[in-house]
Amino acid sequence: MKKKIALITGVTGQDGSYLAEYLISKNYIVHGIKRKSSSFNTSRVDHLFQEVHEKKKKFFLHYCDMTDSLGLVNIIKNTNPSEIYNLAAQSHVRVSFDIAEYTTNVNALGLLRILEAVKSLGMIDKIRIYHASTSELYGKVKKPIQDEKTDFYPRSPYAVSKLFAHWIGINYREAYKMHVCNGILFNHESPRRGDTFVTKKIVSSVVKVVKGEQSIIYLGNLNAKRDWGHAKDYVKAMHSIIQYKKPDDWVISSGKTTSVRSFLLKTFSFFGISLYFKGSGLNEKGYVKICKNKKYDLKKHSCVIRIDQRYFRPTEVDLLKGDSSKARKILKWRPDYSLDKLIKEMIEHELAS
Ligand code: NAP
Ligand code: GDD
Repeated sequence: MKKKIALITGVTGQDGSYLAEYLISKNYIVHGIKRKSSSFNTSRVDHLFQEVHEKKKKFFLHYCDMTDSLGLVNIIKNTNPSEIYNLAAQSHVRVSFDIAEYTTNVNALGLLRILEAVKSLGMIDKIRIYHASTSELYGKVKKPIQDEKTDFYPRSPYAVSKLFAHWIGINYREAYKMHVCNGILFNHESPRRGDTFVTKKIVSSVVKVVKGEQSIIYLGNLNAKRDWGHAKDYVKAMHSIIQYKKPDDWVISSGKTTSVRSFLLKTFSFFGISLYFKGSGLNEKGYVKICKNKKYDLKKHSCVIRIDQRYFRPTEVDLLKGDSSKARKILKWRPDYSLDKLIKEMIEHELAS
């Protein structure tokens, strides 16, 4: 049987790397786009590299950028994919307030450039497109549990840029009958998560604290709630979404919501450490209540958590909790990971590195 060919933008990111692995395991040829950087940016996919002269190569990287229309046209033309997964983005919500125009150029116009490339190459009937939409679109949530029918209220330049991409995908689906799907994915994490996202930051900092390499962890809003899953489960959903007979929009979520504070407490509890908090707002502090494990030299009542204004966003998303019944029913998608299993895996990875 002829192998399927997939093109992944953002292949060097958390999701791109897991998706590439998953598609290769399904016998795909995978092409990925990496951007030019002065330092190495392929650490998440280095293990997929094969020797250049290897005859049965399954994984290929191409230089391009989501801001480079002609580059995207050339890659799509030369790789001839049947599936494009558009995962590339400036994906950090806090940072999007600092680089709003760039975020918009990459996240909003990036998908438009792909859609126009596919259309102008006359490949509409040959290519299915998956777009990485996001639960950030719900923002100041209109309902306590969000599904495909819930209205959007984006709260950051990142979310607004993704709102454009979400709707331009739907518009090209309706206007030109393109097979464009939006995966409205809620937060998903893993050992490969970028270092400045809150779960990875908490896990790596707690490990440093118990090892005696760091004394205080500085965080922002501890009361925000997120619906966290594992990226490995979520890339499987991306594949199922693009296989489905008609292009559509799909919520992918765990259905449970947890505060940043609870995530922090859970992570400490894996080491037998419990905390208590005193003070409020920027003056709130977290202290060691009990350290059961004698291996860790953490004194009772020592301060380990402080709040830093710089990690707050000008406008926050307070609560996300997704209802993924549609994907569970129609696509038979089910996550394997619980939050505890995710945290355990992230901690084990951190301890080993
Ligand atoms: P990530 O780790 O930040 O990866 C983003 C990828 O995009 C990286 O490969 C990055 O390249 C690439 N990229 C950034 N700017 C680019 C540009 N101008 N041109 C080409 N490539 C560019 O993000 P992720 O967590 O894997 O998320 C994947 C996608 O899903 C993103 O679109 C994100 O917004 C969306 N999403 C994520 C979540 C989540 O919880 N993880 C939830 C909903 C939606 P470098 O490696 O060179 O930086
Ligand atoms: N990053 C960060 N750092 N966030 C903090 C911190 C901190 O020190 N302290 C508290 N938080 C809070 C943020 O204010 C936010 O409410 C929550 O932790 C989660 O922040 P992130 O991990 O940065 O993720 P996000 O929810 O803003 O965005 C991620 O999920 C979206 C899906 O809902 C990203 O992956 C987006 O690309 C994705 O679309």
